[in-house]
Amino acid sequence: MNIGLFQFAPRRGRPDENAALLEDALRASSVDLLIAPELATTGYLFLDRGELADVAEEVPGGPTAARLARACRETGRAIFFGIAERAGDRLYNAAALLTADGACVIYRKAHLFDTETLVFDRAGASTSFASIAGTNIGLMICYDWRFPEVARLLALGGADLLAHPSNLVHPHCQDAMITRALENRVFAATVNRFGSESVGGVTVQFSGRSQVVSPLGERLVTMGPEEEGVRVTAIDPALARDKQVTPRNHVLEDRRVDLWGALLNDHRSAG
Ligand code: ACM
Repeated sequence: MNIGLFQFAPRRGRPDENAALLEDALRASSVDLLIAPELATTGYLFLDRGELADVAEEVPGGPTAARLARACRETGRAIFFGIAERAGDRLYNAAALLTADGACVIYRKAHLFDTETLVFDRAGASTSFASIAGTNIGLMICYDWRFPEVARLLALGGADLLAHPSNLVHPHCQDAMITRALENRVFAATVNRFGSESVGGVTVQFSGRSQVVSPLGERLVTMGPEEEGVRVTAIDPALARDKQVTPRNHVLEDRRVDLWGALLNDHRSAG
């Protein structure tokens, strides 16, 4: 399966321009799946919930999803991109996976980061699996990386590839995703944006360095901190389905869940 990483700097508050950039990248790239950053349609910072509401869209009914769904049908490709989603009076930091046969899977970010908590609604459980070209995809967004349970649950559900749109501001995620890939024996594609945004006295600098990591922890692709464009790499899901670390060690079957009951408790009551 060929995956493409589209690293760019979304134009804040300009969904039409960003949708055009996403569509151009999809049409120009020979991929089964193109992955774009978190909140690729709107940019990251919002002055307040009203400003977010002005640029949020229904998915798949809104203009960006409609435009990209058409491009997916016409090219035979799929795209997974971050979007500010409006669902009734709710606003979610979400990502939509649109496929060539017209399917739309929406994942809503489980763990909101910093000022996101001021403007977005907290999501409940949402769909986090899809399948493209024989590869099982597990969906997560940015700060979800800091919770190893997210990647583990995706691996337990059969994901071969973690698809991870991001707007990273701290420097640790790209290294941590090597561990997420190794501890689950899955591919991990983190697609980050670059550039900066300043709104209402808050400035955020994004770190680029989008990457694909193999189930053996090797970086197959590393983009530059300000590199713009698409990088394509081929991945073989069979590698992610081999969970043997040694002939006697299976990375999922070796788990000692009999010792891990406290994981389900509130952190203050754990041991
Ligand atoms: C983040 O979750 N955008 C850091």
